[in-house]
Amino acid sequence: MTTLDLTEAQIAVHWKEEEYFYPPKEFVKQANLTDTAVDNRFSLQNFPECFNEYAELLTWSKKWDKTLDSSNPPFWKWFVGGKLNASYNCIDRHLPTHKGKAAFIFVPEPENEPTVILTYLELYKRVNEVAVMLRDFCGLKDGDRVTIHMPLVPELPITMLACARLGIIHSVVFAGFSGVACGQRAADSGSSVLICMDGYYRSGTLIDHKEKADVAVDAAAQEGQKVERVLVWRRHAGQYASQTPMVDGRDFFVDEVLKSYANKTVEPLDVEATHPLFLMYTSGTTAKPKGCQHSTGGYLSYVTGTAKNILDIQKDDIYWCMADIGWITGHSYIVYGPLALGTTGVLYEGVPTFPDAGRVWRIAERLGVNIFHTAPTAIRMLRKVGPNEPAKYNYKFKLMVTVGEPIEPEVWRWYYDAVGKQDAVIVDTWWQTETGGFLCSTKPAINPMKPGSAGPGVPGIHPVIFDESREEVPPGTQAGNICIRNPWPGIFQTIWRDPDRFVKTYYAKYCKDTKSKDWRDWPYFAGDGATRAQDGYFRILGRVDDVINVAGHRLGTKELESACLVVSSIAEAAVVPVADEARGRVPEVYVALKPGFAPSETIEKAVVNELETLIGKIARPRSVRIVPDMPKTRSGKIMRRVLAAISNKMPVGDTTTLANPEVVEQIRIMVQGAGPVETTAQVADDIAKFGKDE
Ligand code: WTA
Repeated sequence: MTTLDLTEAQIAVHWKEEEYFYPPKEFVKQANLTDTAVDNRFSLQNFPECFNEYAELLTWSKKWDKTLDSSNPPFWKWFVGGKLNASYNCIDRHLPTHKGKAAFIFVPEPENEPTVILTYLELYKRVNEVAVMLRDFCGLKDGDRVTIHMPLVPELPITMLACARLGIIHSVVFAGFSGVACGQRAADSGSSVLICMDGYYRSGTLIDHKEKADVAVDAAAQEGQKVERVLVWRRHAGQYASQTPMVDGRDFFVDEVLKSYANKTVEPLDVEATHPLFLMYTSGTTAKPKGCQHSTGGYLSYVTGTAKNILDIQKDDIYWCMADIGWITGHSYIVYGPLALGTTGVLYEGVPTFPDAGRVWRIAERLGVNIFHTAPTAIRMLRKVGPNEPAKYNYKFKLMVTVGEPIEPEVWRWYYDAVGKQDAVIVDTWWQTETGGFLCSTKPAINPMKPGSAGPGVPGIHPVIFDESREEVPPGTQAGNICIRNPWPGIFQTIWRDPDRFVKTYYAKYCKDTKSKDWRDWPYFAGDGATRAQDGYFRILGRVDDVINVAGHRLGTKELESACLVVSSIAEAAVVPVADEARGRVPEVYVALKPGFAPSETIEKAVVNELETLIGKIARPRSVRIVPDMPKTRSGKIMRRVLAAISNKMPVGDTTTLANPEVVEQIRIMVQGAGPVETTAQVADDIAKFGKDE
């Protein structure tokens, strides 16, 4: 952890230990995972072979020779020698038994548009046609990368699975990201094809999405990557929803091109287990996002096994994950894990509170959803706009999921009482883009739940908390950095085109001997602060690095700061996380101006505008504060910790070592107003200690 910053983990207020809640008997009776011997089966003594159990859930065209090749740490290779195809596993293999079953039920945002049911057979046909188009019309082949910038519509998983069918590596960029952000990711991945959609519904408006594609192509070109083809799906086939002209020879409507490939099929390409399935970009401590590279065999095994054990998905369940497919949760637990299990999944296009606070519960009732998966930010919002809405609808959930950020115990209780009607199990699943699938969670039929705690490591995951001097922190004491002792099949393989950064970011901190060939010497550093209670449950506090988790979406402070610096009047920028009732954390921006410029609303607006243009609307800050100077150390480093303390109404601590201590009081008065220092959010002792390292 860097000492100059006050991180999310340190802003976390201290929650007291909560009581246990037990899974209902009815749930336990029907659950997939009820065998308490599972932890023993997945103990370190049985590592790595224990994970064969997950790989065996898949269909392999050639069985693996070796479960784990760990000879080149930390570049783990899972199920070496095995061959398979992800689209075959998610589609073809279900056809003999249930081709007529719904793979997806798509709910458009406008309530007068009918739901669309996509059976496994139709998914098969559509994926094949798109795959043939990618091969014959775009000339793509295995190992090529394709950037996909699409909203949550069935055409998104169809496009992903079409790539997977041919061994093409997809890189999906969340539709809410700006065109510039998309173009930069396309350039980094080396994509010559961009697949997008003309428009989609948000809060009742069909918004123009194609305009971002033109910006993306330019942004990619600036970084030396030519995007030769832009394939544009249309939200309503035959009707163009965008005002942006199509570029002749570069842009094509998918529905028109597909006419030539109707009913065409292509054999799924068997790839090595270690063949990359996709890239997913995520923010880190530098301005440049990291392309997390996930494998085919290890990743697919892991998400399938955890979807079965932790999400408890079964044959007749109707499963609804409200996450966007543009994030890792959607990749792992809307597309790959559930489809590999032959699940019926609900896809909802729109805003959860549109047109009213009852929408989500109406969908759940109408479609008979019994597994519900969402994030604390959505739970908080639904609670705020309609605390009593769930009671008005007749649905019954057996299991509910929370993911993406810490959930406050009182929000957890509303989820349990109001949404789950005190009759559903909750799993609080802690994991990351990098980890492919769940790391910590209770086993729904086996462990009791504890509000605010993710729970123990899931089977085969052995977490540990280290302090800054690499000592293990004993349970029930203080907070520290959560790490995983062992590799697992879902872990990403590397950062695309940057293996050094991969080693440095995730393994260097706690690797005692970089020459060691023993995986035991290479714990995975997650970048989160956590505490472990006596019962072995982990409570995640938040990021310990320069990453801000906004409403469950990771944004790098450096990324945000460089966007602010694009405004020509700005000399310096510092972005800090601020606790927010609805979104968990939001960024707050501090800027100092170049000589000769005076503070103005125009400058504040220009900063917000750059953040939205370069990153996306999710980066909108709580406020932009124009300050006379940044608090700095004598060596000239900006003290973000001081700014974060001011923004979070916390004591600023010792400022005597600063080069300009007087500026701190000026900024404090500006943000908090005159009067005594407020200390509403007391930092708990253990967390304060945790932050004292240098
Ligand atoms: C945070 C999302 C507390 C954490 C799957 C992590 C959580 C980051 C939880 C990864 C949880 C995720 N409780 N915090 N259940 N789940 N986080 O890559 O800080 O978008 O490092 O993956 O979200 O976010 P990412």
